[in-house]
Amino acid sequence: MKLEDIAKKMCAKGKGILAADESTGTMDKRLKSVNVESTEKNRLTFRQTLFSSAAMKNYIGGVILFDETIRQKTTDGISVPDLILKNDSVPGIKVDKGAKKLAGSFEETITEGLDGLRERLKEYYELGARFTKWRAVYKIGNKYPSSQSIKSNAHALARYAALVQESNMVPIVEPEVLMDGSHDINKCYEVTTNVLNECYNELEIHKVSLKGTVLKPNMIIPGSDCKKKVSSEEIAKKTLDCLKKNVPSEVPGIAFLSGGQSEIEASKNLNEINKINDTNFLITFSYGRGLQASALKAFGEDLDNTKKIQNVFAHRAKMNGLSSKGEWSENLEKEAVA
Ligand code: 13P
Repeated sequence: MKLEDIAKKMCAKGKGILAADESTGTMDKRLKSVNVESTEKNRLTFRQTLFSSAAMKNYIGGVILFDETIRQKTTDGISVPDLILKNDSVPGIKVDKGAKKLAGSFEETITEGLDGLRERLKEYYELGARFTKWRAVYKIGNKYPSSQSIKSNAHALARYAALVQESNMVPIVEPEVLMDGSHDINKCYEVTTNVLNECYNELEIHKVSLKGTVLKPNMIIPGSDCKKKVSSEEIAKKTLDCLKKNVPSEVPGIAFLSGGQSEIEASKNLNEINKINDTNFLITFSYGRGLQASALKAFGEDLDNTKKIQNVFAHRAKMNGLSSKGEWSENLEKEAVA
């Protein structure tokens, strides 16, 4: 399949991406929060429960996996990537090695993982991955993000994306401007503009074919401690405006991260964006917490209640699938989750 077609399949109308690529450290925290021990078996059980749910076929175009998961076999003996493929979804893999302290900057990070990446990509392709993810993180503060952080992270993202396309996979380019802080929505707009501009400069220098990429950005929202709250309509307007001005039109798909928004906020904001989407971008979700928070809670209540966990997940996947078409509504949230 051509890279462009894979990117379009991942973001097809009515579908989006399930970001289940939490590192073992993050999974430890997530499972601890629902009083479940973070063992390899429990991590697989939770993920296998989601990946084998009937909701996958209808609403999930791609799944981002972590290194541990892409190598696991389900209790039925098939590999996790094969289970995802069986549900007509594309298996993907997070390939960065995390955001590490950026030398020369007090509080900022640079995402590492370029050394040996070409060899790791070859192995992931053989294991079934057809797309990848790399997340750069930007903090908003008085002096942040610095141009050092904006430039170094964009450079790394572009080198990553070029290597991934060389390996015949679609790179998800994820520059995440964090919502932590008391900044207002306009500050988020300004910083995201600078970050996206630098990313697309570097992607061009590194000869990345934008048609074979997916952008995973933050929405334009106020900081989590900002006193001035704004409506979903304003978030949608500013987000779409920022994307139209700063993302080249060749990019086929834009799949947002949820970034600490509640499940409902993430669905509502995506829906508002799609209601006014007058571009050719396929605009959808690539949520971690935004898709899994309630399912994780149900898992914590009873690890073996597969039906309940899958129903809870199916509801969230369906709501976000509707949001990707601008067809979500608050009333639909009230649909019973058995
Ligand atoms: P959240 O939706 O929880 O922000 O996770 C998405 C993700 O993959 C971050 O890299």
